[in-house]
Amino acid sequence: MAVQRTLAIVKPDAVSRNLTGEILRRIEAAGLRICALKLMHLTRSQAEKFYEVHRERPFFHSLCAYMSSGPIAVAVLEGEQAIGHWRDLMGATDPLKAAPGTIRKDLGVDVERNAVHGSDSPETAAIEIPFFFGRVELHSPVAQ
Ligand code: RTP
Ligand code: MG
Repeated sequence: MAVQRTLAIVKPDAVSRNLTGEILRRIEAAGLRICALKLMHLTRSQAEKFYEVHRERPFFHSLCAYMSSGPIAVAVLEGEQAIGHWRDLMGATDPLKAAPGTIRKDLGVDVERNAVHGSDSPETAAIEIPFFFGRVELHSPVAQ
């Protein structure tokens, strides 16, 4: 087993519905550690840069408009197999197809406004984490 770090985003639909705390609660209850955390409001061009890999997808423009429509909470999570663990907690992209008990099933609105983002591989996490955080902003909390 390997300790990994992954990027988590509470998307604008969830921040605006006061679900940031509930989502962070689920993250901590699952045993993942929050090692960086901030609230920010992406510009349209920052959202386009973050979702560059989706530029050719039909939903790209709508996704970037949505992700820059309001504040997001961005976090780095750490733990054993954190990338897969966080994606398991999130559930499938479309809330209608997500498993019961997942964040997207419980809190998502539709396939776009699906409450949360998570890195999908170690390679993606290695790009996404430095997109939002510098080295001095990353911490490794240990139980006291
Ligand atoms: P994410 O990157 O946000 O963690 O989500 P994901 O891996 O489950 O899904 P991905 O295919 O990477 O899509 C990125 C985000 O684009 C929006 N989307 N809209 N209208 C559509 O059919 C559609 N498909 C995807 C969602 O916000 C999705 O999370
Ligand atoms: Mg993705």
